[in-house]
Amino acid sequence: MARERILTGESMPEDSDPTFTSLRPRSLEEYIGQQDVVRPLRIALEAARQRGEPLEHVLLHGPPGLGKTTLAHIIRHYLGAEVIATSGPALTRPGDLMGLLTNLKPGDVFFIDEIHRLAPAVEEYLYPAMEDFIVDFVVDKGANARMLNFKLHRFTLVGATTMAGLLSAPLRDRFGLVYRMNYYSPAELHAVVMRSARLLGIAVGEDAAWEIARRARGTPRVANRLLRRVRDYAQVEAAGVITREVADAALRLEGIDEMGLDALDRALLRTIIDVYQGGPVGIEAMAATLNESQSTLVEVVEPYLLQIGFLARTPGGRKATLAAYQHLHVPATPPGDQRALEM
Ligand code: ADE
Repeated sequence: MARERILTGESMPEDSDPTFTSLRPRSLEEYIGQQDVVRPLRIALEAARQRGEPLEHVLLHGPPGLGKTTLAHIIRHYLGAEVIATSGPALTRPGDLMGLLTNLKPGDVFFIDEIHRLAPAVEEYLYPAMEDFIVDFVVDKGANARMLNFKLHRFTLVGATTMAGLLSAPLRDRFGLVYRMNYYSPAELHAVVMRSARLLGIAVGEDAAWEIARRARGTPRVANRLLRRVRDYAQVEAAGVITREVADAALRLEGIDEMGLDALDRALLRTIIDVYQGGPVGIEAMAATLNESQSTLVEVVEPYLLQIGFLARTPGGRKATLAAYQHLHVPATPPGDQRALEM
């Protein structure tokens, strides 16, 4: 795509702008939504604190942009610990992991983003580290080769992944606490937008916030990004006043429709409908037609389309649903007619 998507839950450079990272809630009390995660996590944290023990290892899984990194930071604030953050793809050799593990201090939170992308050779070293807080070094070569145990301080591993299904069973089993993050409801996103606007001093009306919340595809990171676009538009075109109409005009200018779909979402659905007669179509064929990577389609574009029921996955491949046809104003060909055409 020539244009960067502003609807992706994946992080973009501007998300690390300090003004916006400062929006991250620092405690569970400030955290909006994800109550199925927040409630049990609060109990686990409090129990560990009362016993004076480190928290068990935590696996957070779910689509990008729902607050997995934010939760890792909340955990470390709660425990009064530090966080050492890395990612699966960054740990290319066992030595990279060793260096980080051996430098952890007692109770530190070790955060591995995209943990499903750890190289198998690196992952193996993580098992004894998670289970017994030791790492095994092999020193010397040949007949003199020996295994040395290195004792680590007790730490809490927080792993985050968009693809829990890709985690190996031995790794998944070593997490004591496993939480699935779900898309936020429009009401929760509305609360996130109002909170961000208040913290940033942006005057946004309740109904303008709804306009943003409804189009943010269940994702706070997207909601905050849309808020920025709306603020810019209001500043230049509407004397800084964010009404519902201004928010709507700003989002339409960005190519975001009333369901929160952008050009790539619509292109994916149109490809299935126009090129593959509504499907089923395999992901490889779709990626090739759209000139996009399969992982972008699977991890970033499809989850929301599946969630809102515009896309169905069948054994034969992806299909566009009737709701997708209706949204795109394409008359759907009933199956009976299809058969008639083929005869
Ligand atoms: N900002 C981004 N995500 C948030 C959340 N879950 N709660 C409060 N503020 C947020």
